[in-house]
Amino acid sequence: MSKSGKFAKLPGFRDFPPEDLALRNHVFAAWRRVSRRYGFVEYDGPPLEELDLYTAKSGDEIVDQLYQFSDKGDRRVALRPEMTPSLARILAIRSRSMPKPIRWFSIPQLFRYERQQRGRLREHFQWNVDLVGEGGVASDAEVLAVALEGLRELGLGSKDVRARVSHRALLASILQATGVSSEQMPAVFGVIDRIEREPPERIAERLRSGDEAGLDEATTKKILGLFQEPGLDSVEEAFAEHESVVTCVATMRDYLRILDELGFSPFVEFDLTIVRGLAYYTGIVFEIFDRTGEFRAICGGGRYDHLLEHVGGDPLPAVGFGMGDVVLSELLKERSLSPVYAPEVDYFIVSIGEAQEGLARRVASAQRGLGRSVIYGLGNQSVKKQFSAAAAAGAASVIVLGPDEVEQGRAVVRDMKSGEERQVALEDLLDASRVQVGAGIDRSTSERVGGV
Ligand code: HAM
Repeated sequence: MSKSGKFAKLPGFRDFPPEDLALRNHVFAAWRRVSRRYGFVEYDGPPLEELDLYTAKSGDEIVDQLYQFSDKGDRRVALRPEMTPSLARILAIRSRSMPKPIRWFSIPQLFRYERQQRGRLREHFQWNVDLVGEGGVASDAEVLAVALEGLRELGLGSKDVRARVSHRALLASILQATGVSSEQMPAVFGVIDRIEREPPERIAERLRSGDEAGLDEATTKKILGLFQEPGLDSVEEAFAEHESVVTCVATMRDYLRILDELGFSPFVEFDLTIVRGLAYYTGIVFEIFDRTGEFRAICGGGRYDHLLEHVGGDPLPAVGFGMGDVVLSELLKERSLSPVYAPEVDYFIVSIGEAQEGLARRVASAQRGLGRSVIYGLGNQSVKKQFSAAAAAGAASVIVLGPDEVEQGRAVVRDMKSGEERQVALEDLLDASRVQVGAGIDRSTSERVGGV
C-alpha cells in the first residue's frame, strides 16, 4: 500500500478497464476465428504447474524468470511462463488414442518475472497454436500461415510485419562445418541469438571468450562472415560439400515454396540469425516482427520434435507458436487498428415521476426477456439527468414513461440518433411475446464490443 493508503497494481501487471478489455476481446476473437478456419480446436490447462515441468526443458532464461514457490503441501510449483510444456504434459497422457495430427490452440495468461521494458510485462496472454503428430515440412508451413493469417485478420499486412525464418539443424550443420564442436554449440547459438541486439565487436568477444563460446580467431572470423551474406543461395554455395547443410537447405526451400502456395511469401524472409531462446526447438524456427523494427517480437515458434517424449509421452513430432497480446496491442493502437470503444444499450427507460418507476421495471423485465439490453435510472433522478445517462450509456432508443401517455396506455419511444419519436402501446412493450418495438434494435448483444 502507498503512503496515500491506495493500493497500486504490481509492476508488469495490467488492469483491463472496459476500453482496454474491448481491444483484448477484439484480438482474441480474431485469433479464435483464424484458429477455427485452419481446423484447430481450443483447449486450456491449469495456470499452476509442477516446477520440474519447466526446469527440465524450457531453457535457462525462462527458468530464471519463473514465479515459483512451495505450496502448503510442500510441492515446488510455478505459475506457467509458457504453454508448450503443459501441452506436452497433457498430450503425453492422451495422445495415443487421438487421431493425428492433433490441431490444438489455446489463449492462456502467462507469467514471467521479466526485466521491465517496452513490450515485455510480467503477465501476458499468448495465442498458442500447435500441430502434433506430423513431422513433414507442410505442417511447419501451415503453422506459420496460421500466425500470419492471425495478423492479417487484425489488419496487419506484409507491409506492416515480416516473419523471419531459419532452421536450427541447418545452423548447427553450418557451424559444425565451420569448426564448432558440439560442446561449444549451445553457447554459439546463444551468441548468435544476440547478433541483432549487440555491436559486432561485443559478439566477436563473446564468441572468443572462454566463459562463453571459446572459439579460436579463425572460426570466430568465419562465423561473423557467415552473417554478412546470410541468404539461402550463398549458404548453399559455401557449403555445397556438406550433405546435412544441403538437406536442410532443400527442406527450407520446400517450406518457402509451400508458404508461397498459401499466399504468404511477401511476409517471409530467410534469416540465419533467428535461433529462438527456448531449448526444445529442433528444426525450422521463426519470429514475427513489425517492419519498422520498433517493437520486440510479436510471435515466435518452431518445430520441437522431442518434447513429448521428454515429459513421458510417445515420441511425436510437433510444431507450434506463441503470439503475445502486448506488442500486438501496441502495434494495433499505433496503426489505428484498434476498435473504437463505445458503450451500447438498446433501451434506456426514462420515468417522469416516481409513480412510473414500477412500470419502468416491468417494461425492462419484458424487454430483457426478449433479449434486449435495457437500463433505467436506479435513483430518483430528474428527466434531464435520465436523458444524459441514456446518452452516456449509448442507448439506441429511449422509452419515455410520462404520466399523461401512461394514463392513455402509451409510451413515447425516441430514436436517439434521429430524434424521431413515436407512440407505442404499453401493452406491446409489456407483452414480451408480441412486440418488436423500434427498428434497428435487433442487434445481437454478443457481437458488440461495448455493451453495459
Ligand atoms: P516465446 O518466444 O517465449 O515462445 O514467446 C512467444 C511470444 O510471446 C513472444 O514473441 C512475445 O510476443 C510474447 N511474450 C513472451 N514473453 C512476454 C512477456 N514477458 N511480455 C509480453 N509478451 C511476451 C514461447 O513461449 C513458446 N512456448 C511458443 C511456442 C508454442 N512454441 C511452440 N509452441
